[in-house]
Formats: sequence, C-alpha cells, structure tokens
Amino acid sequence: GSADRSHQKRFSEVQKERREQAQRTVLISCPNKISEKKFLKYLSQHGPINNHFFYESYGLHAIVEFCRKESVSSLQDATYTPSTGKETAIPFRSRFFNVKLKNPSTSEKPPIQCSNQSPPSSRKLLELLCYAESIDDQLNTLLKAFQITEENAKLRHLTCSLIEDIAAAYFPYCTVRPFGSSVNSFGKLGCDLDMFLDLDETGRLHAQKTSGNFLMEFQVKNVPSERIATQKILSVLGECLDHFGPGCVGVQKILNARCPLVRFSHQASGFQCDLSTNNRIALKSSELLYIYGALDSRVRALVFSIRCWARARSLTSSIPGAWITNFSLTMMVIFFLQRRSPPVLPTLDYLKTLAGTEDKCIIEGHNCTFISDLNRIKPSGNTETLELLLKEFFEYFGNFAFNKNSINIRQGREQNKPDSSPLHIQNPFETSLNISKNVNQSQLEKFVELARESAWVLQQEDQDRPSSSYQPWGLALVLPSASNSMSLAKKKRKLPPRERIKNLLESIRSDNTEDSINTSGK
Ligand code: CTP
Ligand code: MG
Repeated sequence: GSADRSHQKRFSEVQKERREQAQRTVLISCPNKISEKKFLKYLSQHGPINNHFFYESYGLHAIVEFCRKESVSSLQDATYTPSTGKETAIPFRSRFFNVKLKNPSTSEKPPIQCSNQSPPSSRKLLELLCYAESIDDQLNTLLKAFQITEENAKLRHLTCSLIEDIAAAYFPYCTVRPFGSSVNSFGKLGCDLDMFLDLDETGRLHAQKTSGNFLMEFQVKNVPSERIATQKILSVLGECLDHFGPGCVGVQKILNARCPLVRFSHQASGFQCDLSTNNRIALKSSELLYIYGALDSRVRALVFSIRCWARARSLTSSIPGAWITNFSLTMMVIFFLQRRSPPVLPTLDYLKTLAGTEDKCIIEGHNCTFISDLNRIKPSGNTETLELLLKEFFEYFGNFAFNKNSINIRQGREQNKPDSSPLHIQNPFETSLNISKNVNQSQLEKFVELARESAWVLQQEDQDRPSSSYQPWGLALVLPSASNSMSLAKKKRKLPPRERIKNLLESIRSDNTEDSINTSGK
C-alpha cells in the first residue's frame, strides 16, 4: 500500500532544518565511567539542551544538541587547549571536545545506554527474516533494520557541519552539504558520507543590486579551468583536514578522478567521508531519489532488499571496480517500478511537468527542473504486493535486453543504447553520461544469472511461511553470502532450496564471526 502521505516535507526544508540543528550541536568524547546526570547538569550551565545521545566509535562519545547556538560558543569559551606532555597540541577551536573527570569516583553508576550506529550482522538479519510473518513483512523488516536512524542522520549532518567549520577557515561563507545515500532516503547504516563544498553563497553568483553608477566585483585570482579551480580548493582543504582537522585521519587527495575529491575517515563519528566541490547536480539527484522514496512505501523496502541481495551475492563491493553500484541498482528499481502497469512511480518527465516556477532549476546548462512539493503528486493506483514486485524485479532484469537497451528513468521506458557499454543507465540530468559506465560484461552477466536464479528460487517456494520456528524461507533464501552459495552450487541438484539454506544457517550459527553484510557499494 501507499505511505501515509500527509504533510511530507520538501527535501530542501529537511536539509535546512538538519543543518540548523547541527549548528547548535557539539560532539564530546567521554570517559566510560561518566555519570549521564552530572554530565548533562554540567553542560546545562551553557544553556538548555534539546536532546542528546551516546554512541560508541573508538570509545564513548556524546552528541549534545543545545536549544540555542550561543550555548556552543559559551561552552567553547569555558574550554581550554590541553598540554599533552611530550607532544605539542595545535590549537584549534572546534565543536569537538574531550570531557575529563577531575575526581573519577569509584561509585557504581547506571551504565550508559548507547545508540547503535551499525547495520545488523548477516546472522541477525537471517534470524529477523525467518521470524517475519510474510514476504512483505520480511522486506519491511529488512528496511527497518538497515535504514539510517534519526540519531545516525543527526551524526551525519553534524559531521558535515564540523567539516564546514574547518573549510570556513578558507571560505568564510561556504556550506558543506551532505548528498548521496546519507540524505536520499536509501542509505543503510554504515554507508559512506558524501559531502560537497558549496561556494555559491559567497556572493560570487548572486550579485546584490547596487545603486548608483558603480558595479563592484571581487578582485580574484584566475585559473584556466573550473577543474583546476576545484583541484586547488580540494588540495588545500585536504592539507587542512590532515594537519588541523580534529579526528580526521587517513586523508587521501583523489584529484585526478572525473569528480575530484578528498577522502578521509572521521574517527569520532566512524564515517568514511568523500568531500568534493560544487556537486549541485548530484544534490539534485539526491532530491529526486528522496521524492521517489517518499511517494510510495513500497519503494524503499524494495530498494533496500535489492541492495542487500546484491551485497550478499557479491554483486556490489566496498572497493571501487567493474561492479554495479548501489546508485545504479536504485535507478534500476525505480525504472522497474515505472514499468509496472499501472506504474508505481511516475517518470521524471512527468515530475517536470508538475514543476512550479519556483522549482525551475538549470545547473551548468542541464535542466534539473522537477516538482519539489511531493504532496502535489497523486498516489499510484498500483496495489501489487512487495512479494510480487520482488519476484517480478528478478524476472524483469533476468530477461532485460541489456545488449540493445538503455535504462532511462526520465522517460520511463527503454531507449536504444547510445554506445557499446554492457550496462547503460542514463544519468537523469546529465543525459550524455552513463551512471554504470564502470560495469563490465562479466559483472552484468553475473547480475543476470543471479536475478534468474533468485526469480526461480522464489517461484519454487510455496506461498506460506513454514510453521517450524527456525526455518529460512522467502527472502532469506535469496540472500546467502557468495562464499556459501559456491558450496551451495555443488549441492544444488541434491537438495531443495529450503534444505540448502537450512544447512547454510546452521553453518552460520556455528560460526562465531559476526560479519555484517557490508553496505557501501563502491
Ligand atoms: N553519482 C552520480 N553518478 C555516478 C555515481 C554517483 O551522479 N556514476 C552521484 C549520485 O547522486 C550518488 C552520489 O553521487 O547518490 C554518491 O555516490 P555514491 O556514494 O557512489 O552512491 P550513494 O548513492 O551514496 O550510495 P552508497 O550507499 O553506495 O554510498
Ligand atoms: Mg555514498
């Protein structure tokens, strides 16, 4: 069925609220023996606290959101730079603090409740799936277990806000915005944090109206191309993060990529971060995915299951390469849902026809216009179950004419492929680009083969959930990890799928390693 669609916020509203919230928030590394009550009492001296939570990442940390921004500077003014003995501290005023206990007392304290920031292990997932009531329930359960939580979203926006403070040393009016799966509603716990430096607010592009006969412009340095400007900006930011960024480690400058970026890990939040610049088109595609994800409650459940399936079957990887990415998979699911009859999702061209004047958006010559108020898009008349859609997805792409056709969510129908790349998915805004250009023939073949096999497995299953308490069924049958499915392949002819998975589950249960299904598809 369709989601409760009363009063859904626009993407830009959500981002603005989150950003403002993050600016009133601080990150604090805490000793394990802390008393939550005293900690909050101490911080409240600087102003009322809106909310807070604790989590674990290389030690205990707290996120504290004040009601007012002034409280942050008040806390900073009451903070000192440590002297660390042999080493020398580089003084850097930030919103990332350490709290120390003057007199660590030995009295028993209630243990701190930590908010979980990691995805469930594959064993936990299989367990959840086995106890679900129906295949639809399995897909919704998987979504609930993997989706980014409220706390995790706060942590992502805070991390961008902390990086913005560092970038602001060079560019005082900059904004660091998250994009990609952190904000497009398709992110799984543990996915990377994509962010970009937005310099448009510096006044470079939106000149103020001035009166009189004079026009003022900034005196600036010029370089031969936008690309070189980007590389110079990212190069100094990379240095700055490396030398002065609290908690930023493993800084890598990847400046010769098509989209130059600085990659680093932000230890206190536990995020792998990719920082680029002026990526406004990618932000628009994040907004588009956000709208698709909000239009119908089946969309995200299906995308998450397909992403988990692809990860469990080693079709995606955390290492960049010739494999399919999560972004491509999401586009394939959206396209498939546009092809149902009646469609579950509208085409991008249709969303463009609904756009108002305030939605008009041209970026670098590309028309990125579509409606931003999703409350004005009428719900789908399609009532197919998730179970049916999952089977049909595998069936559809198991038989898709990848050799001739390109996937195009703008028109919602196949187009002739403009070039010979094995998998062609048109970038919805930069229409000359193929978002799956990296995928080679053998990875595509693997995808097709596994889609067919999964369609077949789901068709063999009788529709009812088995009565026995711990028996894999439905979605769990198509999720085993690659190494296990290799050994499965040998037993294929001897055992029916349910028996095979039962064996697999037993082998997983007896294995102590809690390897989680990885989440990033890069
Ligand atoms: N992007 C794009 N074209 C590509 C790859 C990426 O336009 N070929 C944009 C998309 O907007 C994408 C964002 O860059 O959402 C971030 O890319 P990536 O991190 O690879 O994908 P995510 O959607 O963030 O998914 P994941 O959870 O795997 O990180
Ligand atoms: Mg990403």
